[in-house]
Amino acid sequence: MSHSGLAVEPAVRWPSNGISEVPFRVYTDQVQYQREQERLFRGKTWNYLCLAVELAKPGDYIATTIGEVAVIVARDADGAVNAFLNRCVHRGNLLCLEARGNVKEFGCIYHGWVYDLAGRLTGVAFEKGVQRQGGMPPEFRKEDHALQPLRVAELGGIVFGTFSDETLALEEWLGVDVTRGLTRVMNRTPVILGRSTQILPNNWKLYFENVKDTYHASILHLFLTTFRINRLSMPGGIYINHDGGNHYTYAMLDYAAEDATYKDAGLRSESEFRLEDPSVVESVDEYGDGVSVQILTVFPGMVLQQVRNTIAIRVVRPRGVDKTHLEWIHLGFDTDDEAMTERRLRQGNLIGAAGYIAMEDGFIGGFVQRALQYNDEGSGIVMMGGHEAESQNFRASEAAIRGFWKHYRALMGE
Ligand code: FES
Ligand SMILES: [Fe+2]
Repeated sequence: MSHSGLAVEPAVRWPSNGISEVPFRVYTDQVQYQREQERLFRGKTWNYLCLAVELAKPGDYIATTIGEVAVIVARDADGAVNAFLNRCVHRGNLLCLEARGNVKEFGCIYHGWVYDLAGRLTGVAFEKGVQRQGGMPPEFRKEDHALQPLRVAELGGIVFGTFSDETLALEEWLGVDVTRGLTRVMNRTPVILGRSTQILPNNWKLYFENVKDTYHASILHLFLTTFRINRLSMPGGIYINHDGGNHYTYAMLDYAAEDATYKDAGLRSESEFRLEDPSVVESVDEYGDGVSVQILTVFPGMVLQQVRNTIAIRVVRPRGVDKTHLEWIHLGFDTDDEAMTERRLRQGNLIGAAGYIAMEDGFIGGFVQRALQYNDEGSGIVMMGGHEAESQNFRASEAAIRGFWKHYRALMGE
């Protein structure tokens, strides 16, 4: 124990200074969970807010969350995108009750205080009192009060927000590789094809690690292997930014060979399984670079996915130490013809809560969480591919997970 009064006893004890052993208690401890809200989601990180196309006109707004914190994103009359806490400065009421809409200003239902689209307080009900009695004292000035702002930045049509003045500029923070990966996929104006939210009965980190886990893909997801969508033997690699938190992994496919076999035999598979309708995996090389799978993460809670022609953003929303909402935003682009939209929708059967692939990622975290119930002594092992968190030109590795813990420990001060 420190006598300075500054050091806080860590909620979780790490077995080493390394990142290749992770104490199980990080997934079960309530104090740890609260610190994550403060130091990660409200800390020096950029968090997904919305797509810029969702705020097409002045007055368009979205009420959303960063971690568990309620925020509003709005386009003002000048066309600028602003974000601020969804919390009235008067008594802290939730200001915006609808998830989205278009307004001239924001009015609080509790006592009628009003804010403009930049979050400035513009109206206080009965400010001068009633019949010269009551009202706000003379020293109260509306211009001294505003909704607490967030910094906002946009890349590839995605709007991000951060609570911290110290967070590096978005592209610098993402790193050059992850910036390239993000803008590769988001290279046209996106169109939202659909949304769904999956309720995960587990700690949010179990899901975020799963996305960074290239090791499990060809083992847990038998569909991927059977139908050759993603095998570790395909050429590919992992890019990890220098902090470790952001990453993307990719795999290459010989689309021409795939096409020939597709026409020939429905779909090749070394097992006896054949798809009754192979159109669910029929795909085109829309980016012209042969990359058929690219999974990208933005620390601590955003995923950008390209699996063949299914494009989706997934947002990880912690809702308690053992509960997570996973929001899926399924995307197309404004350049898509009808055939491409149809293709994206069909391939959409691969992913999401009931998808041929992604349902497994939805339940595996719940299994881990059940095993850890009152059973969280010790640590998990994250040593596949070594002890470092560096970019690699192969994928039989847990380097991206180690990257997550590297950045996590740095921000958490552990
Ligand atoms: S809490 Fe919003 S006006 Fe009172
Ligand atoms: Fe998976």
